[in-house]
Amino acid sequence: MNLEAYSAEKVSKINDSLKVLLQPNDSNAAVLYDAMNYSVFAGGKRLRPLMFLAVLDTLGEKCENYLPFAAALEMIHTYSLIHDDLPAMDDDDMRRGRPTCHKVYGEAQAILAGDALLTHAFCAMLQIRPFVQPDKLLQAIDEVAYLMGLGGMVAGQSEDITAEGKSVSIEKLRSINMQKTGAAFTASIISAAILAGATREEMDCLSRYSECLGLAYQITDDILDVIGEEEVLGKSINSDAKNNKTTYPLILGIDASRTLAESAVEEAVLSLEPLGEKANILREMTKYFLPQRQK
Ligand code: IPE
Ligand code: IPE
Ligand code: MG
Ligand code: MG
Ligand code: MG
Repeated sequence: MNLEAYSAEKVSKINDSLKVLLQPNDSNAAVLYDAMNYSVFAGGKRLRPLMFLAVLDTLGEKCENYLPFAAALEMIHTYSLIHDDLPAMDDDDMRRGRPTCHKVYGEAQAILAGDALLTHAFCAMLQIRPFVQPDKLLQAIDEVAYLMGLGGMVAGQSEDITAEGKSVSIEKLRSINMQKTGAAFTASIISAAILAGATREEMDCLSRYSECLGLAYQITDDILDVIGEEEVLGKSINSDAKNNKTTYPLILGIDASRTLAESAVEEAVLSLEPLGEKANILREMTKYFLPQRQK
């Protein structure tokens, strides 16, 4: 199966699982459910749950058993986007081809939609209980909680805001990017590896792979913020300059940033070598981490 067909099939399953998890069951908190569904089903490439499922496939697991966990990763990611767009953070008006959540539902409901997506994600992750050993599930959830919070995404977002308008070294920028963006990919890839009972060697390869991809992805995102088109990306452009963020394109220029993203992706591919042919889908997926994907 080629990459596009593989991804389309998995995305459709991820979306089915999200629909079930986010279905309002009565008239309680109707606005909250609307706001959550509005942002989750606005589009979105579903990259993090796709990576999660591709790792499970690579390690010989049956993806169907893990769909609520995959959906949970997308719920946490969507929450991070809703909050990232708020006036108090990047103050952006467009996301996934639509006005941002707070533009439609107001700031209070957008904050709450993010809160509910995050907390409900933990209920979703627990739904795979019948199919995994409890210790593996606990370890996977622990990894997600840490990397999406203080050990990664939330900490990185805090550092990103703190660094606005300041002079930032390339080392510091790398560390912010690895946290705010890289950690969500690491959480997706390593939680799948834990659930599949990966060996130490497999774990090391995947961990290097996820680090390289995380770095490449934020560089790509920063490049697209400068040269991308709003209609194609579906989100506000020039957001970084507006907020005085330091980015790779600002420090290195577009061409050198692109080269850096490409070399990170090459390193990601190299890190898969010990896994042999079974990791082919993970090799192909690295294409999603370079600028042409969004064009
Ligand atoms: C956007 O993520 C935020 C970043 C970490 C750069 P995506 O580019 O994966 O956004 P969606 O999910 O497809 O909307
Ligand atoms: C934010 O990075 C990454 C998140 C954790 C949400 P950006 O602020 O650059 O993401 P976009 O460009 O708004 O999608
Ligand atoms: Mg941001
Ligand atoms: Mg932003
Ligand atoms: Mg950006």
